[in-house]
Amino acid sequence: MHAPTAPTDASAETAAPLPSTTVIVDHPLIQHKLTLMRRSRTPANEFRLLLREISMLLAYEVTRDMPLELIEIETPLEKMMAPVVAGKKLCLVSVLRAGGGILEGMLEILPAARVGHVGLYRDPVSLAAVEYYLKLPRDISERTAIVLDPMLATGNSAAAAVSEVKAAGCQSIKFVCLIAAPEGLKTLHEAHPDVTVYTAAVDSHLNDHGYIVPGIGDAGDRIFGTK
Ligand code: URA
Repeated sequence: MHAPTAPTDASAETAAPLPSTTVIVDHPLIQHKLTLMRRSRTPANEFRLLLREISMLLAYEVTRDMPLELIEIETPLEKMMAPVVAGKKLCLVSVLRAGGGILEGMLEILPAARVGHVGLYRDPVSLAAVEYYLKLPRDISERTAIVLDPMLATGNSAAAAVSEVKAAGCQSIKFVCLIAAPEGLKTLHEAHPDVTVYTAAVDSHLNDHGYIVPGIGDAGDRIFGTK
């Protein structure tokens, strides 16, 4: 029996520093809900609901820097100049299949966003990302893309998905996940240093099969109840 593994404490002296483009969203509600998700006995229906709720909270953080502009409106009492979101429109890019779990919650907060999909699977031996599907909005080059995948493990799929979004002409890209491994953060940062990563947690390490430890297991299987 192993001693329980704690998620990485990025401030610990022994831990390698995380890329400066890493934002750990450590809101207490997110941390609480993530703990419930991690439990192996949490059933798929609860897991999905928790992921949706956390995704809404992550949406709040990833859009914090959206510019505002003032427009004139009329309240029941008088005219006023009131702020509305301005700047580039958004495109949410879901990395299939587990990205769909985050997409649902994000769309609740950002209903006007366009949606793209990148289908990638991990070669079980090399752990390299293999693409099998790609559909992005035609105007993605004029939007800010937020690429979604719950687990930033090796970073290979994340880097490949971001490369596709860049190849489509998009220059403003963020990445949102639930749990990142230090290895994945490093790989993504080396490939795309311009991409900021928003994550609820940075865990200890990857195991020999490329799974994040302690992690949540296979995110797709836990969302869809497959296995
Ligand atoms: N993908 C998952 O679903 N879980 C991991 O731990 C790593 C990659």
